[in-house]
Amino acid sequence: MNGKKIPNLPTKLPNLALIAPDPDRDAPYAVQWFTGDEGIHTLRLMGNSDDEILPTSLKKETATLQNFVDKSEQGKQVTWMIRYDEKTIGAIWVILEDTDFLQSPAVHLMIGDSSERAKGIGSTCLDTVLRYLYCSTAYPTIFTRHLVSNEPVTILLTKAGFKRAGKPYVDTNGLMFANMNRAND
Ligand SMILES: CC(C)(COP(=O)(O)OP(=O)(O)OC[C@H]1O[C@@H](n2cnc3c(N)ncnc32)[C@H](O)[C@@H]1OP(=O)(O)O)[C@@H](O)C(=O)NCCC(=O)NCCS
Repeated sequence: MNGKKIPNLPTKLPNLALIAPDPDRDAPYAVQWFTGDEGIHTLRLMGNSDDEILPTSLKKETATLQNFVDKSEQGKQVTWMIRYDEKTIGAIWVILEDTDFLQSPAVHLMIGDSSERAKGIGSTCLDTVLRYLYCSTAYPTIFTRHLVSNEPVTILLTKAGFKRAGKPYVDTNGLMFANMNRAND
């Protein structure tokens, strides 16, 4: 997949779409997602250790989003922002390089705005990206990983057809992860 030409993706929900990151537009939302106790909880759910969780800022989130744009141009990662009711509420991204822990392409998602969780948005976004990958690329298998303790994402991935691959393992931060994959059917 060439990361430079990623289309915006409509979803089956009329007010929900996946679109390219725009750091100026999206960074203020990201600051909200990662602020306060709720933000710390979200970062933990994403697999960050407490040592890695530092206060956020507009500058920091703008830089992170710009990094997503740069990685897309370099063909290393494709990121879509989740836009719902004209707000940016999260992101879904596909890492195109293998890491020590996980093969690529590896999909990850986050509904950063906790008030928009458990409404079917995460599963709709995942379904949309999987369909795009299977229709537009030659990848036979899609990979992912998650914290074993994160029950909502474990259920979401299992319902989307992902199967556990190998045994759970402890990462360099002492957190227990499980890998999953899903073959193109
Ligand atoms: C995990 C996450 C992506 C799920 O997205 P979502 O939009 O909240 O989930 P959906 O509403 O699409 O739910 C999909 C399925 O997951 C399960 N699920 C979702 N939230 C759940 C919860 N809080 N508890 C138990 N199961 C849950 C449900 O079974 C649901 O299927 P159903 O509607 O048929 O019952 C989202 O909650 C999130 O981003 N959380 C914080 C960050 C995170 O954990 N990211 C994943 C890191 S690997």
